[in-house]
Amino acid sequence: MKKTIFLLTFSLFSLILHAGEGMWLPVLLQQLNEKEMRAMGMRITADDIYSINHSSLKDAVVLFGGGCTGEIVSGQGLLLTNHHCGYGNIQRHSSLEHDYLTDGFWAQSLAEELPNPGLSVTFLVRMEDVTAVTLKNVTSRMSETQRDSVIVANNKLIVNEAIKGTHYKASVRPFFAGNQYYLLVTETFTDIRLVGAPPSNIGKFGGDTDNWMWPRHTGDFSVFRIYADKNNNPADYSKDNIPYTPKKYLNISLKGVNEGDFTFVYGYPGTTQEYLPAVAVDMVANHKNPIAIGLRQQRLDIIDQAMEQDRLVRIQYSAKAAGIANFWKKMIGESRGIKRLDAIDIKRGFEKDFSQWVAADPNREAAYGNLLPAYNKVYSDFIPKNDAYTYLTEGPLSIEILRYAYSFNKLVQQSSEKTISDSAVNALSKQLLAGVDGYFKNYDKTVDRKIFAAIMNTYCENASPDYMPAIYRELKANYKGDYEKWADEVFNKTLFASAESTKAFLEKYSRKDAKKILKDPAFQLAAATYAYLQQNLSKDIARFYDVTDSLQRIYMKAQTEFRPKKQFYPDANSTLRIAYGQVKGYEPADAIDYNWFATLDGIMQKENPDIYDYVVDPRLKELYRTKNYGPYCDRDGTMHVTFIATNHTTGGNSGSPVLDADGNLVGINFDRCWEGTMSDLMYDPDQCRNISLDIRYCLFVIDKVAGARRLVDEMNLIQ
Ligand code: ARG
Ligand code: GLU
Repeated sequence: MKKTIFLLTFSLFSLILHAGEGMWLPVLLQQLNEKEMRAMGMRITADDIYSINHSSLKDAVVLFGGGCTGEIVSGQGLLLTNHHCGYGNIQRHSSLEHDYLTDGFWAQSLAEELPNPGLSVTFLVRMEDVTAVTLKNVTSRMSETQRDSVIVANNKLIVNEAIKGTHYKASVRPFFAGNQYYLLVTETFTDIRLVGAPPSNIGKFGGDTDNWMWPRHTGDFSVFRIYADKNNNPADYSKDNIPYTPKKYLNISLKGVNEGDFTFVYGYPGTTQEYLPAVAVDMVANHKNPIAIGLRQQRLDIIDQAMEQDRLVRIQYSAKAAGIANFWKKMIGESRGIKRLDAIDIKRGFEKDFSQWVAADPNREAAYGNLLPAYNKVYSDFIPKNDAYTYLTEGPLSIEILRYAYSFNKLVQQSSEKTISDSAVNALSKQLLAGVDGYFKNYDKTVDRKIFAAIMNTYCENASPDYMPAIYRELKANYKGDYEKWADEVFNKTLFASAESTKAFLEKYSRKDAKKILKDPAFQLAAATYAYLQQNLSKDIARFYDVTDSLQRIYMKAQTEFRPKKQFYPDANSTLRIAYGQVKGYEPADAIDYNWFATLDGIMQKENPDIYDYVVDPRLKELYRTKNYGPYCDRDGTMHVTFIATNHTTGGNSGSPVLDADGNLVGINFDRCWEGTMSDLMYDPDQCRNISLDIRYCLFVIDKVAGARRLVDEMNLIQ
């Protein structure tokens, strides 16, 4: 009896929990979330997670490169992130002779760790609400442009003050669509070395077939190390740099998690748009996504086929294909999720209630009465233009030859600019020459030619002629719709489809040769397309964002007034956030019940030596056969590979630490379940799950598969 009462009150209580939705600000955790987090099982405090007075978990979480998260796991600056986050760098060190992408890479000593020019890692030093200062002298009568310029000037002062006398960087970023502003002070390290990566058949097991899907068996991790100068300060790569000593590193739990356990994800979610009106969601789900999906599908079909047939093409195009496929699949899942959730109708229902609330009060009517009608108008005007933009950017401008040809635009400009000296022009052409081999290392002309023909066909036959650059209409007519012929002529004539012709041209370049670029068919197409974008569409787009930015700011504020009891979290904006939830399975469709974890048994079940994505590493197979799991095995005797939970995550959360109730590392976030990818627009507690690599599988691979025990020995493991 007592137990039922307890269960009853507990379940009532759990109704008011956020059930996983939200990406919360670390500085507001104590105020908004700590109580709930503790009710859900957390045993540490908000102050352990974020503090400026002493080291806290935030000091072990970094922005990795431009768009991922990483975490520090040793006193020598050892860092974990996803395999797909390290991918570009692993690929850059790979060739047919030493193919680290396929075979994996493990540095046996510090000396073997590989530098990665261009890669950086950024720590958040502190963040602070500066809304009042940012908005000083901003009035409601200002135009968006006036408003922006006042804000920019105010923020400059804030930033200068914040970084005075330090090597830190700072920025002020808008939250809640510009209703709040936060100062972010950061520290960036630029000597980041590759320490280890599993072979692709572990790190990318399941490939694009399993991407965004559950059940999942990908060992999606890679290992890097931060290096610093002798004083432990950031420095560019130097032989003399030493491993960075962090303020804080994560302890790693070998205990695993259980269904219902509290977990949280600490990282850098990129973009979400939870507070849009229904029309905006409609534009994404029913216009932008379908156009982009179709065009990406064509590119992928061609690349996939070529990769199947040619090992070199596989190395050249695997990163590109992964990028194209990733967003392609995300968009499919998102549009389906929006439909299934009835998200647009839910938003319309909300807007109906909102409108009634507005109409019930003359002051509100004055402030917000025009909001939704204005949204509807601006979106219906914009949709055809946005379609055209999507067609161009996902279509012609995705073709490599066009993009590459256009990279010579600056050379053309400077060559015809009288104020620019011959030597400056020469220097630029030499610089371009130096980049040629790097570009062609990952280029296959046959693949690109096929893509050209396919994409031009789709674009010219389907995009609206009202918003089509004239050159496409002319060429379509010239070639009478023979896109193969069109492609042949472009690729036969262009300078930019081979390293030899590009180099020969640049080696002898003098400014009068700009004519040749101007006559190049690939350059002409690209230049005409960019010019059209600039002269036509970008004005429309800029105007659209101008209007919707200000509408969104007002609508955001209005929504918080309309629902004063609701706790709002700001949309993701690549700033450090915390999502928390529970380990939990889900039912993706009628009669299917998904378990919350996946094991090595599943890898063996998926094994198929004939399909690249499902080849199982022989060492892994042997360890499976002998059940040689060491301390990394679960209590249930199996090797857990991944698990899912209700944490609200998005792109950018890749590589984020997944922590347990004690703040110990239990997983590395790397994906979301497909049925829940609409959570960027609307979260559904029923279907939205983040996918984490079980940290024990990660350690098992490092220790047992790779034999890189020296790395595990650096870490602090909690039994
Ligand atoms: N879907 C994950 C993310 O958005 C993983 C992507 C990389 N994996 C892949 N198979 N393409 O980044
Ligand atoms: N794989 C994603 C990333 O690169 C995370 C998945 C998601 O979008 O939630 O950030």
